[in-house]
Amino acid sequence: MSDFEGLNEATYRRAGIVEEYAAHDELHEGEVRVLERVGDLSGVRLLDIGVGAGRTTGHLAPRVASYAGIDYSPELVGACRARHPGVDVSVGDARDLSRFGDASFDLVLFSFNGIDYVSDEGRRRVLAEVRRVLVPGGTFVFSSHNRDYALLGKLPWQTGRPGRAMLKQSAHALLHTRRRRRMRRREVVGPDHVLVNDNAHDWSLLTYYVSPPDQVAQLRDAGFTVVECFDQWGEPGERDERSVWRHYLAR
Ligand SMILES: C[S@@+](CC[C@H](N)C(=O)[O-])C[C@H]1O[C@@H](n2cnc3c(N)ncnc32)[C@H](O)[C@@H]1O
Repeated sequence: MSDFEGLNEATYRRAGIVEEYAAHDELHEGEVRVLERVGDLSGVRLLDIGVGAGRTTGHLAPRVASYAGIDYSPELVGACRARHPGVDVSVGDARDLSRFGDASFDLVLFSFNGIDYVSDEGRRRVLAEVRRVLVPGGTFVFSSHNRDYALLGKLPWQTGRPGRAMLKQSAHALLHTRRRRRMRRREVVGPDHVLVNDNAHDWSLLTYYVSPPDQVAQLRDAGFTVVECFDQWGEPGERDERSVWRHYLAR
């Protein structure tokens, strides 16, 4: 495991972060639109990976034939169980789905960029594992940070957007200078991706950013044949610079 993966995981175990996730229960606009494209969910066996504190659970568990949620943060799983008693939610790592048999789900969801917090090698394992647990023709819906995003890697004062928001974000970045420096040293530039310290959770994560064509290629390498791409708001399209993250639907 790369050491930043341990740091990312520790972030998702922090009490303040758990509280933050537990305060949200809305599906995002882009998620609603992409899930609509999956169609009727009533007969579907769903695996919801990186379920966090269960933002998606209340929307999806009642609509599907069976629902299983996993997350590698025991603290988030605890929060999810408290919010959704009786729903099957357990601690589990997306890189090792060995407890689930081949072809045991019709739909796998890894929402809100959860796939972006492991190394490149870990991500390839996630894609292979998801492919394995899906039935042939099954659907994988997820989102991931967009390497084409116009402001990727820019500090608030480098964005060329002066104003109160920029001042506030700059103060926030300065407040966390030590942590930023520590994380920045770990940044990675790979052949088809970058792992970047952005402002999420007070600059405490390294986040994987990939361009849509490279993400599509990774999905094809993992055995997916049909891939649809959407912007942050669920509008179909191959590439854009406005989306911080983009949605994918792969079969
Ligand atoms: C940005 S949060 C989103 C949480 C939740 N899906 C939501 O939208 O509120 C990313 C989630 O992915 C989980 N996660 C990241 N890497 C994971 C892995 N390898 N296996 C399982 N969960 C993981 C984190 O613990 C966290 O709950």
